[in-house]
Amino acid sequence: MLDSHVDRLICPDCRSPLRFVRGSDELSALACGSCSLVFPVEDGIPILLPRHARNAELELPLLERLAADDRCEGLSEVLEKTRVHLASQRGSSSWEWEDEAFWREKYKRQTERLLAGEKLDEGRWGVRFWQREYLIERLPASLWTPEKTILDIGCGAGHNFRVLLCDRFDPSSLYIAADISLNALKLNRLRNPHENALYVLCSADRLPIRDSTVDLLCYFGILHHTERKSDTIEEDARLLVPGGRVLLHEALTRKSARPSFMPVHDPGSEHEETIDPAALQATIDHAQDLRVVAERSSHTLVMGVCKMILRRFARSRTAYEVVALLDGLAYRLLGRFSAYFAPAEVLMLLEKVAGPGIASEGRVSAASDSASA
Ligand SMILES: C[S@@+](CC[C@H](N)C(=O)[O-])C[C@H]1O[C@@H](n2cnc3c(N)ncnc32)[C@H](O)[C@@H]1O
Ligand SMILES: [Zn+2]
Repeated sequence: MLDSHVDRLICPDCRSPLRFVRGSDELSALACGSCSLVFPVEDGIPILLPRHARNAELELPLLERLAADDRCEGLSEVLEKTRVHLASQRGSSSWEWEDEAFWREKYKRQTERLLAGEKLDEGRWGVRFWQREYLIERLPASLWTPEKTILDIGCGAGHNFRVLLCDRFDPSSLYIAADISLNALKLNRLRNPHENALYVLCSADRLPIRDSTVDLLCYFGILHHTERKSDTIEEDARLLVPGGRVLLHEALTRKSARPSFMPVHDPGSEHEETIDPAALQATIDHAQDLRVVAERSSHTLVMGVCKMILRRFARSRTAYEVVALLDGLAYRLLGRFSAYFAPAEVLMLLEKVAGPGIASEGRVSAASDSASA
């Protein structure tokens, strides 16, 4: 599968095209001629990390195996250069890998449960499902036509694509799953019924994907785990074709507003942080080719209390819509007076417009529920 899609991938450092060097089925390589560096491809999954985030523990043993493979003879010089760089990184950790330690274990446990025959929750209902479906309904019909490319950044186990998007896309469309966790990518691949798929281990801060090739770019709860947060959106927009869309669902920063009677979140990963709404808006405004098509700020105290006492509301889309309406109303009327009514999450649908110079319509902090699609 990788062979036919190598042209979609680029070097995460210099953004040059990569050369595919076929080794065994279990281990091949991609090489960047400009950087003279090699990136291993383990079991069909390219490991395309930028210099600062390369992982000696994961990659050095793979490079050693590549060096011993006759089919990779032409690579010996660049393999050695890469090996020296990786050896110099040994023992140091980057933001990405501090976070990954948490996800690695989580996806390992899920894979074990799945392989033991347990049924993992498909989540075809629930507030999160309805929220995301709300944005997906606002995507243009043309997006479902053949040969589209979907990039799922921080894809995790691929739940969103599998449950919410997969059936809508034509089988000829290409699903690119990107995550820092190898376990996540392998679990995703194990469960994903969409065959035309490419799984890439990379950092969401430096996506190794060719410009102007993506029709739909998804950030489902990922930017708040990355070092550069919403700053990457403008940079990532260059991956989109004109008219391409961005689906975004992220946790927002707000003054602590959890009343003592409400349950506390499970402890998260090392960098379980939030997105500053002002920074998000500034990025969208600055990226002159991005336009807000639909936006919903949600999760004020109203949504929190309803989730707590009306557990069944999450099973009905109509009930969710009523609560979302009240939630948005509370935010608009009371948000500026009390942090209890400030939104904790934002859902956005953005479009890449054909030429620069068109300002965005929505404001993260002002439009709690708008749709102009
Ligand atoms: C909250 S989970 C979201 C997973 C999935 N998008 C969903 O909504 O179910 C965050 C995901 O981001 C990945 N991740 C964390 N930091 C990352 C980074 N710097 N680059 C790429 N992926 C990252 C984690 O491995 C994890 O799968
Ligand atoms: Zn390069």
